[in-house]
Amino acid sequence: HRHLLGIEGLSRLDIEALLDQSESAVALSRQVEKKRTTLRGRTQINLFFEPSTRTQSSFELAGKRLGADVMNMSVASSSVKKGETLIDTAATLNAMRPDIIVVRHHAAGAVHLLARKVDCSVVNAGDGAHEHPTQALLDALTIRRNKGRIEGLRVAICGDVLHSRVARSNIILLQALGARVRVIGPSTLLPTGIERFGVEVFTDMRRGLDGCDIVMMLRLQRERMNGSFVPSVKEYFRYYGLDGEKLALAAPDALVMHPGPMNRGVEISSEIADGAQSLIREQVEMGVAVRMAVLEVLATHLPNN
Ligand code: CP
Repeated sequence: HRHLLGIEGLSRLDIEALLDQSESAVALSRQVEKKRTTLRGRTQINLFFEPSTRTQSSFELAGKRLGADVMNMSVASSSVKKGETLIDTAATLNAMRPDIIVVRHHAAGAVHLLARKVDCSVVNAGDGAHEHPTQALLDALTIRRNKGRIEGLRVAICGDVLHSRVARSNIILLQALGARVRVIGPSTLLPTGIERFGVEVFTDMRRGLDGCDIVMMLRLQRERMNGSFVPSVKEYFRYYGLDGEKLALAAPDALVMHPGPMNRGVEISSEIADGAQSLIREQVEMGVAVRMAVLEVLATHLPNN
């Protein structure tokens, strides 16, 4: 593959190879000297049309740990603000001869479109409510390291599934690796026809959590709810917020995940987010490793490699 645009289209072998490659990046990142030379002389542009803390910074660190020259394009102060289109922006950056462009965009499919207009490798860092492939890979790596496997695990993805690219990429990836995935949320925040993806659907969180090995919480994405139903925070937390009482219904050794950013007291209590069953900090560490692995695999497809 020249690009990483989504989990859709990757085989189980592709995914497992990326997870295995990530393990060596975890080991490297825990050393004092954290550098490799895989991308020495290469140029990586991070082009983020939506805000990001984790994804942008970890792609920057990943590129730098592999020796690339990394440029963070500041969209907020770019000519996008003067009306330049996505395609013209891509063509302009392409003329500077980057080797890899990492893109986040608010429109589903925008990254695929951009990939057709440039000569370099493109990585999807989140496109609308479509896909966020490196998030699903880092989640899988975190689960595999803590549970020793993914096959056969019961994973609950809870909350605003409708607006979540993280949910979509995770549903595809976790099922490809043999997990049994449930989605839990109010019917207004579940995509119609989600059963088509082979997941079990619950609107009652207490029933849905029963016996789950992994409880993955999602942020209520109010910025994407233009005009549609927006639940009150108090009511949402009561029915769909993860607290100690609801988590007790999952398996006794259940582990809790959240891709971030978290809204404490909305979808998750602080007690659980910071508690002994939480993997949230480890997910961030795995994010750098997975992005190093993705960049290294793409590097093998770059011209003159
Ligand atoms: N999980 C995630 O994509 O976080 P950011 O939006 O901070 O990158």
